[in-house]
Amino acid sequence: MNISVQTRNLTRRFGRFTAVDRVTLDVYEGEIFGFLGANGAGKTTLIRMLTGLLKPTEGEAQVAGFDVWGQSEAIKRRIGYMSQRFSLYEDLTAEENLTFYGGIYGLRRDQIEQRKAILFEHVGLQPFAGQMTRDLPLGFKQRLALACALLHDPPIVFLDEPTSGVDPKARRSFWNLIYQTAQLGKTLFVTTHFMDEAEYCHRVGIMHMGRMIAVGPPGQLKRQYDKSTMQEVFIALHQSSEEAA
Ligand SMILES: Nc1ncnc2c1ncn2[C@@H]1O[C@H](COP(=O)(O)OP(=O)(O)OP(=O)(O)O)[C@@H](O)[C@H]1O
Ligand SMILES: [Mg+2]
Repeated sequence: MNISVQTRNLTRRFGRFTAVDRVTLDVYEGEIFGFLGANGAGKTTLIRMLTGLLKPTEGEAQVAGFDVWGQSEAIKRRIGYMSQRFSLYEDLTAEENLTFYGGIYGLRRDQIEQRKAILFEHVGLQPFAGQMTRDLPLGFKQRLALACALLHDPPIVFLDEPTSGVDPKARRSFWNLIYQTAQLGKTLFVTTHFMDEAEYCHRVGIMHMGRMIAVGPPGQLKRQYDKSTMQEVFIALHQSSEEAA
């Protein structure tokens, strides 16, 4: 299996505080990798290093075969990123947002038109293409933000809490979309606080106070810790890490 994301002892400190602490991880091509951890565990900081937005303090990381230390521009061309506070322009239509992002990614006009058609179909937003973004329900804005992240057809996509704030039905349909995106051969790196979503991932990593304390397929982690749900695995791991600290 080809590796999409590889880290070795990746570390980020802010002053004397260590937000990401020696994380070593391999994520494989075509995988839906779920990334769990309490508020402040270091998930967004790790993603920001992998997307080339933040320099590590120590350690190694390669994304799509390129090094985060010296090749962040090459990385940016090969990844999509839907940030935790995703940035859509509320006073543009859905379609105009895609056109705008296409320009940022340096796509030609004909490429933008072609990708727009494919992506509106993919995320199921064709009927809303001409609507003002501010008028779209949050679940649709999230789909549009995903479409923006996929515009340049990147092999690796980082989604930071893409489903926070939406109702269970919209969350389910967004996950169907995540599966469909993985079927295109893309690697998806998804953070979530919802443990039902953790069950849908091929593998999950659980982070606690900057450290990756468990990695594996949900089924394997449940067997290993003798629990019936990921919710229980998460709570048990959290408690034992607190006790050890
Ligand atoms: N630029 C920064 N300067 C100082 N501290 C920071 C900075 N960015 C993040 N931190 C700290 O690093 C820790 C990890 O933050 P991070 O945003 O990575 O957590 P998270 O796991 O994404 O949390 P959440 O689930 O709330 O999104 C937090 O304590 C945060 O306050
Ligand atoms: Mg975060």
